[in-house]
Amino acid sequence: MQKTIVLGVTGGIAAFKAAQLASDLVKKNYDVEVIMTKNATEFIAPLTFEALINHNVIVDTFEKVANRSIHHISLAKKADLFIIVPASANVIAKIAHGIADDMLSTTFLACSKQKVICPAMNTQMYENPVTQDNLKRCKELGYAILEPAVGHLACGDSGKGKLCDLSDILDYVEQFFHRSDALKGKRVLITAGPTQEALDPVRYLTNHSSGKMGYSLAQAALDMGADVTLISGPVQLQPPKGVHFYPVTTAKEMFDAVCTYSKQADFIIKAAAVGDYRPVHVSEQKIKKSGDRLHIEFIKNPDILAYLGEHKQDHQIICGFAMETQNLLANAQKKLEKKHCDMIVANDLHTEGAGFQSDTNIATIIDQTQRIPCPKMSKYELGVTILKHMLALHKQGEQ
Ligand code: PMT
Repeated sequence: MQKTIVLGVTGGIAAFKAAQLASDLVKKNYDVEVIMTKNATEFIAPLTFEALINHNVIVDTFEKVANRSIHHISLAKKADLFIIVPASANVIAKIAHGIADDMLSTTFLACSKQKVICPAMNTQMYENPVTQDNLKRCKELGYAILEPAVGHLACGDSGKGKLCDLSDILDYVEQFFHRSDALKGKRVLITAGPTQEALDPVRYLTNHSSGKMGYSLAQAALDMGADVTLISGPVQLQPPKGVHFYPVTTAKEMFDAVCTYSKQADFIIKAAAVGDYRPVHVSEQKIKKSGDRLHIEFIKNPDILAYLGEHKQDHQIICGFAMETQNLLANAQKKLEKKHCDMIVANDLHTEGAGFQSDTNIATIIDQTQRIPCPKMSKYELGVTILKHMLALHKQGEQ
């Protein structure tokens, strides 16, 4: 069923970003209702939102809206989630104390659903103990706060107060609505990130994987109620709270960790970008510059996914990834067969918004009977899609 998000917009320079957010949410098939404060309308016109969300924007508490019975209670009841973007110091102060003197604050007070506040303001205002006290009160009341970022602010100052990334808000929304028990009782093993193979104490061979795909999968599996083990190469990300986390560096270490933890796993997802080769010898000392050419001999690393496919247990569903630069689907199909996986997720390095490092991916899920295109979506959302497909394959296997 389509979910309704009530988006409150207050007066601040970041108000224009709320329009992009509204558009992104509509694209994800959410029904978006917008309530603006009068000050917000000085920064961006209601018409901008109306064109994006296909509803009238509400500003005035006593406004008459054609053909619709809109008042603070009806929107409060309709909401499945209430987000304020950007949340000014003024609105934070009001909602922390139950002040209801306009449509936004009144509807907020009347709404019993989850509420999310995305503050954006000048650093001094944000750090003022009064604002911090109000935010603390909001947290105590159960409202989620998506902390502002540090950066250059419109007023010319630099510091904390910049609206958080829209991708953080979208991820929050996706996580909120995808939280379920669908994978309760299931053990999910995920590998993520790159591997590093040392050449000497100073240098190593690696790839561009950031770990975002694997970590998003881990978060999605957690949100769906699974017991999650994450084996990760070196990345800059924090493992999601609640996973069993095993950091590794080399492909061999990843292989050993996977061998140790895979036997119990029901679902295994190999999102890591594993180095296929490692140097035969790792020099104990830094390799000195000499001659115009340097020859290093490499030896093959274990193919972890192929090993898992060969040793697959009856209760397991195994999902590989295929990162290709040409003939995406044909090459991915070959990997599916060769590595004995149940499914493979094909992503193309050359497609913008897909593959390494981006927050989004564009992929095709391939199994023994079908190919499912997954258009551009967040890596978290793709994670949910992959896990749902694994669950469907698991259920088919049980019949
Ligand atoms: O981490 P991000 O920046 O978010 O980027 C995500 C990603 C692009 C790394 C991810 O979406 C992805 O495609 N991961 C697999 C990359 C890869 O190594 O593809 P491959 O086609 O070379 O390998 C095929 C499969 O075999 C993969 O599941 C890989 O984990 C596995 N493999 C490969 C070599 C090896 N020695 N052992 C393996 O298990």
